[in-house]
Amino acid sequence: MPEPCPVTPIHEVFSQVRRKSIVAVSFIAAFLFLIIVRLTNEVNFPLILNCFGQTSVRWIPFSYTQRRTLRTHYGYINVKTQEPLQLDCDLCAIVSNSGQMAAQKVGIEIDQSSCIWRMNNAPTKGYEEDVGKRTTIRVVSHTSVPLLLKYPEYFFREANSTIYVIWGPFRNMRKDGNGIVYNMLKKTVDSYPSAKIYVTTEKRMSYCDAVFKEETGKDRVQSGSYLSTGWFTLILAMDACYGIHVYGMINDTYCKSEGFRKVPYHYYEPGRDECDEYFLHENAPYGGHRFITEKKVFAKWAKKHTIIFTHPNWTVS
Ligand SMILES: *[C@@H]1O[C@H](CO)[C@@H](O)[C@H](O)[C@H]1NC(C)=O
Ligand SMILES: *[C@@H]1O[C@H](CO)[C@@H](O)[C@H](O)[C@H]1NC(C)=O
Ligand SMILES: *[C@@H]1O[C@H](CO)[C@@H](O)[C@H](O)[C@H]1NC(C)=O
Repeated sequence: MPEPCPVTPIHEVFSQVRRKSIVAVSFIAAFLFLIIVRLTNEVNFPLILNCFGQTSVRWIPFSYTQRRTLRTHYGYINVKTQEPLQLDCDLCAIVSNSGQMAAQKVGIEIDQSSCIWRMNNAPTKGYEEDVGKRTTIRVVSHTSVPLLLKYPEYFFREANSTIYVIWGPFRNMRKDGNGIVYNMLKKTVDSYPSAKIYVTTEKRMSYCDAVFKEETGKDRVQSGSYLSTGWFTLILAMDACYGIHVYGMINDTYCKSEGFRKVPYHYYEPGRDECDEYFLHENAPYGGHRFITEKKVFAKWAKKHTIIFTHPNWTVS
């Protein structure tokens, strides 16, 4: 026997439906509100801005809420994913390539920093006691890319947790197939898919030039010089680190100071002398790095940012 249908007066049916839909709408509204709050907190603007490019907004699981948001650096783009660099460090150690690092025995101290920065192809193997063994990020000049590619298995497979940030002029870095260095990097990420390689955008390169002009009053191009990898490193580190400890960099007067220590230009290469190299570059009419001028600017930055220089020590008042 079929069950009898409950008979409800028509106006009651309507009010029940209305009540139910109010509840449902409130639920949906609350849920949407939560999602919006979460997206604005978590998916920081880089990803949203990036929608103009190729990346879409990713769903970020709820459990990630407690994580500190990474700082995004739009001037550095991943060669494989085309996404901007995300990096946020407490205390950074920047390790100079200078011969000053030899016999310093600060490897353990360096390795305790939250992020460790190295430049170009400076090795750690065999020098761990003096320079440490961890490398969070390596800032590399376009001219040093071939040096990394001599040992691709080491740099891009074994050291695959290291972030590589490459800087270079547009003619070498262009992405249209004519950028000789960009092409090398593209091939590298094809062969080593876990390699984290970023290139400095043209805009960011101009910004670094503009900072040089602002600080020195000299136009970098007109003065016939190139910025050093140290310059690009410090500019990015000031954006990514809360505090910076620079190891093994000499100051602007070091090579004229009494009884300075004569050391090789690089801790991993005998031969070239550090101060000879500095004077050669500073006075080269064309194609040199203005290392000494740059160091003067670094000392100035150290007054505004939390930066200390040791081995040898700088006094920054
Ligand atoms: C990174 O390198 C480690 C050790 O060499 C290796 O075990 C790991 O699979 C690599 N990661 C990726 C994503 O390839
Ligand atoms: C250099 O500075 C460090 C840390 O600020 C200090 O411990 C050390 O004694 C200084 N060394 C010299 C030679 O002044
Ligand atoms: C620069 O380095 C020299 C040699 O280490 C040192 O005597 C001098 O005090 C330093 N100057 C500054 C401003 O740090």
